[in-house]
This record gives sequence, C-alpha cells and structure tokens, in this order.
Amino acid sequence: MVNSVAPYVAPPGHVEVERVVTASICHVREGIFSQMENIRTASLRNNAVHDVRAVLLHQSGWFLHWMEGPAPSVHSLLQILAQDPRHHSPHTLHTSRGQRILPTPWSMMMSQATESAVHFGRRVMALREQFEKGIQYAPSSVLRRLSAPMQLPQAQGLPDPEAFHRVGICAAGGNEAFAMVGWLAAQLGGTVAKRRFAGEQDMDGSSEYVEFMEGQHPCRMIAVARNGLAHGLRRAFLPDWPHFVMLFCGTPKFDDALMARMVAACEGLPVTPTLLGIAPDAGTHQRMQGMAVEAHLAYVAASTARPDDCTAIWMAVHEQLQRAGEPPSSVWDVPRMVA
Ligand SMILES: Cc1cc2nc3c(=O)[nH]c(=O)nc-3n(C[C@H](O)[C@H](O)[C@H](O)COP(=O)(O)O)c2cc1C
Repeated sequence: MVNSVAPYVAPPGHVEVERVVTASICHVREGIFSQMENIRTASLRNNAVHDVRAVLLHQSGWFLHWMEGPAPSVHSLLQILAQDPRHHSPHTLHTSRGQRILPTPWSMMMSQATESAVHFGRRVMALREQFEKGIQYAPSSVLRRLSAPMQLPQAQGLPDPEAFHRVGICAAGGNEAFAMVGWLAAQLGGTVAKRRFAGEQDMDGSSEYVEFMEGQHPCRMIAVARNGLAHGLRRAFLPDWPHFVMLFCGTPKFDDALMARMVAACEGLPVTPTLLGIAPDAGTHQRMQGMAVEAHLAYVAASTARPDDCTAIWMAVHEQLQRAGEPPSSVWDVPRMVA
C-alpha cells in the first residue's frame, strides 16, 4: 500500500510558486568543480533577484536541478538553461505549484558516487516514463530516488521503494554521529555511503548514511556534520525525516549551539522532524527541551546517556521506530499540473 502525503499547498496569504525538477546530461568534460562554481556565481547573482530558489546536484555525469519561483521567472530560467552548452537532453521529472519548499536561493551538491552515467540514466528514464503517464513524486523524493536509492537487498521489490524510516543524527561536540553510523554498519554488516555538499558560499558539509532492517522495515540513518545542517539541500530534505537524533555532550556552549543550528535549519520548513535528544544528564534535556519548545519543535528525551554510548543510542532509536510503525512515504501521487 502506498502511503501518500498531501502536496504542500500554499496556505492563504503565502506565495504560490511553480516547482520544476529536471535531470540533464552534463556536458562538462573537464573541470566540473570550477564549472559548478561558475554556475553557483551566476545563480547567486540571478536567483534572489527573480525570487527563484534552486538546488543543483551533480552525480555520475548528470545534473539534477530543482527550482521554485514565480511561474514567469521559472519559465524564463528554463529558457536560459535550454541554451546552456554545459548540459543537454533535459528531462522534466516533476512540475507542481504550491508552497515554497526550498529554504535558500541556491545550494548544490557534488556526489562522488562511482556509478556509471548509463546506470544512473536508467533511473532517470524510469521516472520520466512515470511522469509522462501522469505519476510523479515529491521533488525531494525524485532527487533521493535518483541520487541515493535504498540499496538494502531486503528492501528491493517492495511496493513503495521510498517507504523506509529516515533518521538524521548530529552531534554537538565531536564526531559521535559519524561514529554511530560506523558502529551500526559494523553491528549489522551494512556499508556506509558518503556525500559531500558545497553550499551557498564556501560552506561545505558532509553526510554519511547506513541502511539496515528495523524489524520488517528498511531504515536509513544519516549522520550530518554540524555545518551541514544549514545547507539548503539538507534543509529541503528535513521534512522527509520524521526523526532526528541530537547527541548532546553536557557542555552548554556546544549543546546550545547545536540546538540553535537545528532551530535555524527548521525555520520556514513545511514539516519538521521530532528531535530525539540523547543527553548525559536531566538538566541538559530540560534546557534543550525548553529551546525546542520555544521554536515550536517537538523534543523527546530519548535517553540519558553519553553521546558516544552507541548501544544506548541504538536502543532509544529502536524504541522510537517501533512506536512509529509503518515508515512514511514521500510518494506524491498527484496528477501533474500543466503550466
Ligand atoms: C544544470 C544547470 C543549472 C543551472 N541553474 C541555474 C540557476 O538556478 N540560476 C541561474 O541563474 N543560472 C543557472 N544556471 C546557469 C545558466 O544556464 C546561465 O549560464 C546563467 O543564468 C547566466 O547568468 P548571467 O546572464 O548572469 O551570466 C544553470 C546551469 C546549468 C548547466
């Protein structure tokens, strides 16, 4: 059974934007990094002026571009893009109208995935075929299906490939979130996938994830670097993560800074994750809960444990996931809108 979520309709008084996701073949043979920098410079110059927000992803010789803005701005950007020799063969994979989802005028990611362009292209064609039949998915789901599809063997062939638990994790002080992902991979025999982001300015963040079965359901835990939380692309995916584990260390300076980053990351998002706090003492939980509530974020004191106590963290997450039941899906099976 597909568990579809309502598209983000613009509430009264909010701007309604047009959203478009395209995949195109990258025509940059050398110096992709500097070309991405050039595209970023132009986009930072233009997008805010035209009220456009966009994310660009480069992976396996393909560009994925998700843009949102007033219809005339989006249409004129599409015309400009059609003339850009750095790519060709654009395929539209999503079009809709509604509330803005992207939080920043520009963000981009370059993935070091080693998959061939042909393999990646097969997923693009499959989505395009569905789109042409009038079936499409949320923009974030399109990007995830293409750039980071669920790989777990037990999850292959499930009716909805996007119905898996997604749990973010970030640490206030050290490297414990990444250590937790490594620990889970070692415990459960999974592999760790790595991603790097380049942001609006020079901001750069990384993330790593591991996939495993949680009872009957596939699950992905994604470790995010603290600076990665501010990244537009990362923020655009937060609404798809029902749970986010925050590993507090008990040092107020670091813990408060992490919660402040989370509050800023969630600002303006249509849906926000439930924060699962892991803190070494009750006082820290109390302070973090206070900050979360003030920002209208849901906080659960998931465990009183040190941020490097992987067993305790795992038990707390496991308990929350059991309570969550069926993983939510990001399938957005609305008929596509004709511009
Ligand atoms: C895949 C891809 C995505 C792009 N995205 C944007 C964008 O979101 N905004 C933008 O202004 N330019 C974008 N560009 C660059 C435009 O094609 C064009 O070069 C640029 O808008 C020209 O800007 P200028 O006239 O200010 O020099 C993109 C280019 C490529 C290849």
